Amino acid sequence: DKGEYRHYMLKEIYEQPQVIRNVLEGRIHHGHVLEQVFGSDASAVFDQVKAVQIVACGTSYNAGVVARYWIEKLVGIPCMVEVASEFRYRKTVCMPGTLFITLSQSGETADTLSALREAKEQDYVAFLSICNVAGSSLVRESDLAIMTNAGPEIGVASTKAFTSQLVVLMLTTLVLGRRYGLEGEADFVAQLEQLAGLTEQVLTLDSQIQKMAEHFVDKHHALFLGRGTIYPVAVEGALKLKEISYIHAEAYPAGELKHGPLALVDEDMPVVAVAPNNSLLEKLQANLEEVRARGGKLFLFADSKAQVKPGDDLELITLPDVPTVMAPIIYSIPLQLLAYYVAVLKGTDVDQPRNLAKSVTVE
Ligand code: M6R
Repeated sequence: DKGEYRHYMLKEIYEQPQVIRNVLEGRIHHGHVLEQVFGSDASAVFDQVKAVQIVACGTSYNAGVVARYWIEKLVGIPCMVEVASEFRYRKTVCMPGTLFITLSQSGETADTLSALREAKEQDYVAFLSICNVAGSSLVRESDLAIMTNAGPEIGVASTKAFTSQLVVLMLTTLVLGRRYGLEGEADFVAQLEQLAGLTEQVLTLDSQIQKMAEHFVDKHHALFLGRGTIYPVAVEGALKLKEISYIHAEAYPAGELKHGPLALVDEDMPVVAVAPNNSLLEKLQANLEEVRARGGKLFLFADSKAQVKPGDDLELITLPDVPTVMAPIIYSIPLQLLAYYVAVLKGTDVDQPRNLAKSVTVE
């Protein structure tokens, strides 16, 4: 039931504060992540992990890319991420001590399931499924599983499933990190506990984002830019926009601009930049000035730390300050709303976009 909402997608976007609370419920205690929530023998498995291989499709893959940044930075072990349709068909090499993680909302995505079955022929430490559907094929065929507890997701464009996956991936990062000397687990847990409230604050930007969406209605293309952990957030924002508004959107790590995509920038190419305060902010700001110098219009999502010259070529949405590590979770939300409102203005079928199925159970 959509309740007061016009579409399931909007309802699911708005459920995210509660979803984040649900994900954390029973998984943390006194500043500590509980390991047994991954499975009764999870601790023994985690003790052996020296590397991580993540496999997923679509939005779930984008969550996996965020996790790679987190795991390599906070745990300090190698983390590889690959789309399942590639992984399953190529000869892969398993490093000793690698934990294999599948990420999936449905747990029934054919490519992800086949990748898991292929991987089982190799010497992985264990197979962990991070999934939103208990009893799904992926969960049944994995050694360890943790549910994302997002509740049923009806809209084809994944929203709350993505944020819930990110929260679980952060829990995973913390349980692995404590084996590699990660300090300040209680601080990270406290930051996780702040997320639902921050998400509520970000949702109050709704009408500003709705207004911003008007600029996209007559556009055929859009560029999304981010750096570091925010790069996969930009990719996910572009995926949302193309799925439901049918606008061709592409994301680039902002540092790649000058290696090609800058040639595309003109007044018909809106550039969405996602710029929370982090160590790359200054570099990103320089990239954004390059865009403006070429006549591109900038749509910027940033916090109070961003320093950009005001101008007619800039639309700015200011988010609350958020802990740097958690920024990918918070900054995904305004991009979901942007895609949603562009699609509504264009009059597309938001919940059931053309040519797409909610669960891709065939190859
Ligand atoms: O159920 P899964 O998470 O395995 O699905 C993977 C993709 O098919 C899915 O994320 C797809 O990309 C969504 N439509 C994105 O919004």
